Amino acid sequence: MEFDLSHGGLVRWLREEDDARLEALFAAADAVRAAHVGNEVHRRGLIEISNHCVRRCAYCGIRSANADVARYRMEPDEIVACARQARDFGYGTVVLQSGEDRAHTTEWVAELVRRVAGESGLAVTLSLGERPLEDYAVWRRAGADRYLLRFETTDPVLFERIHPGYPGREPRLAILKRLRELGYEVGSGVMIGIPGQSWDSLARDLELFRELDLDMIGVGPYIPHPATPLGADGHPDFPAAPDGGQVPNSEAMTYKVLALTRLVRPDANIPSTTALATLNTEQGRELGLQRGANIVMPNLTPPAYRALYEIYPGKACISETAAQCALCLDGRIHAIGRVPGTGPGWRPGHEPGGA
Ligand code: 5AD
Ligand code: FES
Repeated sequence: MEFDLSHGGLVRWLREEDDARLEALFAAADAVRAAHVGNEVHRRGLIEISNHCVRRCAYCGIRSANADVARYRMEPDEIVACARQARDFGYGTVVLQSGEDRAHTTEWVAELVRRVAGESGLAVTLSLGERPLEDYAVWRRAGADRYLLRFETTDPVLFERIHPGYPGREPRLAILKRLRELGYEVGSGVMIGIPGQSWDSLARDLELFRELDLDMIGVGPYIPHPATPLGADGHPDFPAAPDGGQVPNSEAMTYKVLALTRLVRPDANIPSTTALATLNTEQGRELGLQRGANIVMPNLTPPAYRALYEIYPGKACISETAAQCALCLDGRIHAIGRVPGTGPGWRPGHEPGGA
């Protein structure tokens, strides 16, 4: 089958409802995945190091204005202990993620990166939001390998609507460009089905994945959080895209976007996300891995903190331990005939120092 990945072609695929054609799309994405990144499923151990946040993103449950969240900040010793656990489970990477926590000074994070990299020997990915550009340079020198920052949408009006202004911030695309110049592997992505997201704008998001030549791309369904403006039903400031143009935040939509992401960026590392697993606890991760994805992000956050990192409700794995998630995911990977990856799992051909 022909896969027209032009703007118009992407829009048509996003709106496709025919089961046979969708099966062909998923099969093509799976074949491209196998040819370009192989059968290994790399495990990126996620440590949610703080749920403090100065931002008020309209979709996010840990936004600063949500007074119902008990806030926590992990100590470096606790974080390093989680990273060691990741190494013991055989993971190749740890991802340090948090809200935009101003107590995380440039130097505090740099020292943390040095310790985590030094004491675990694993690749270190940071996902700490928008920071002054200089911070990214300092952390890179401290040993950070990758940075994740989703651009969330290419539609500038929608972006502003869901990300209330914050003084002095850099545009996300400028940050992504800088991260690339600094030698990070760069990850970005979007949520699927945020109110106001049109077919056209989601197709442009896919085109931007291709244009930015991203190393990692995370796409997952938008899940409404009742304690947020966007999650409050029918909030007048967050209308759906008009005239039947609203993208649904459904499981079916997520698979289409995953498959198209694989077709536009054949060798990218693409996770089967926790948000997808939240919509379908039984099969979501597996189906994601069979329709384009090649990465999973097992949660390592200690159980006491995990429940407090509720960016959306009903998040998968909220009451499991790190060891339970490790076992669970390895079982799921084997069950679909794939193998847990070893080593850091760089984008093929982009390994640091050559290859
Ligand atoms: N539903 C789905 N995904 C969300 N994220 C934040 N809030 C939600 C939500 N309510 C995603 C954003 C962010 C990533 C860490 O989690 O895309 O970049
Ligand atoms: Fe956490 Fe399955 S991955 S319980």
